[in-house]
Amino acid sequence: MFDATTIRKDFPVLQRQVHGRPLVYLDSAATSQKPQAVLDAITRFYEERNANVHRGVHALAEEATEAYESARTRVARFVGADPRGVVFTRNATEAFNIVAYSWARTRLGPGDIVLSTQMEHHANIVPWQLVQPEAGFELRYVPVTPDGRLDIDGLERILATGRVKLFTCTAMSNVVGTINPVADLAGRVRAANRDCVVVVDGAQSVPHLPTDVLALGADFLCFSGHKMLGPTGIGALVGKPELLDAMPPFLGGGEMISNVTLEGTTFNEIPYKFEAGTPAIAEAVGLGAAVDYLDALGMDAVRAHEVALLEVALPALLAIDGVTVHGPRDPHERGAAVSFSVAGLHPHDIGTIMDREGVAVRAGHHCAKPLVRLLGSAATTRASFYVYNTVDEVAALVDAIEVTKRFFNG
Ligand SMILES: Cc1ncc(COP(=O)(O)O)c(C=O)c1O
Repeated sequence: MFDATTIRKDFPVLQRQVHGRPLVYLDSAATSQKPQAVLDAITRFYEERNANVHRGVHALAEEATEAYESARTRVARFVGADPRGVVFTRNATEAFNIVAYSWARTRLGPGDIVLSTQMEHHANIVPWQLVQPEAGFELRYVPVTPDGRLDIDGLERILATGRVKLFTCTAMSNVVGTINPVADLAGRVRAANRDCVVVVDGAQSVPHLPTDVLALGADFLCFSGHKMLGPTGIGALVGKPELLDAMPPFLGGGEMISNVTLEGTTFNEIPYKFEAGTPAIAEAVGLGAAVDYLDALGMDAVRAHEVALLEVALPALLAIDGVTVHGPRDPHERGAAVSFSVAGLHPHDIGTIMDREGVAVRAGHHCAKPLVRLLGSAATTRASFYVYNTVDEVAALVDAIEVTKRFFNG
């Protein structure tokens, strides 16, 4: 039985107070809190098994390697992938950069189109922009409708050029919450060009929805550990092994080589070819523990809990005079990141006064400036929910907005 009140007892930081009030943490879309099991796994690794991985002949090195590779296997299972296709990265951002530099830069050229969307986080815009001048491809964006969805007619118009070689989109928006129909979109782009590569931003979806990379139709899936109860400094690029195999490395150094002479280098097999240098071993172990924790809860139950919170939160927010909620209104079509605006108030002012009430929300452009601009402002306030949030905290959010309105409007 999924019970957020019990679950939150596993998260030490949620027991603290802020400005003399119980912390209501509604910023999990930026980073989630960590359960004791994850903190313990990291501490235990350093206390009992710390060593470098892969090259060691001593017991500790073997145990550290086993712990690191076991984390890879569990992360792979969590998203339905082959462990050979799971490259540990620092975060989703690094995963996108690997695809941009090692796939798009080397495979694409003038006449080709990289198609992203106007809904993307900067992590899924800037890497393509960085390699675009050298590669010479055209970078285009699927438009977003006023209600925060991808414009399918706009997508089809660009696909009709027959030149889209890489399509990328987020599975779940970190601003408007929209869950994109990724499998359907992947089908459309492949109907237009059988060889089009599909890159999916799972930074918001993998922590909140059951994920099967094959069912999504993704060639590459990028996500971060810290948004899914794991530590910072670890994320993953999940790729089809045959694509990763054919790609040149991104970074060079130790671990990623097979042989080195002063004249040249041959590279290690995947995924190690993309893991240059000593990896984030303890962080990977922590991510493995986070995946175990989420598995024990069950991702269907996680999703159902968040839908239940949205069923309370969305009408409650919309009932507040002057509040606009951005993105889809149907909880089944959106994730638990809810951006809103309050007429006449600046998001930073809202966030600051809400903080005094103990309610932690995010205010700003959420690293998605093009989308937030489309919403007609420079910033929004965002409340985002996760496994440890309760209906009482939704009420605290609503109360804090009312307090903020009174503070500024008298
Ligand atoms: C949708 C989306 N994509 C990508 C990222 C980038 O994640 P990171 O900063 O962990 O690389 C984020 C982080 O907020 C996100 O919300």
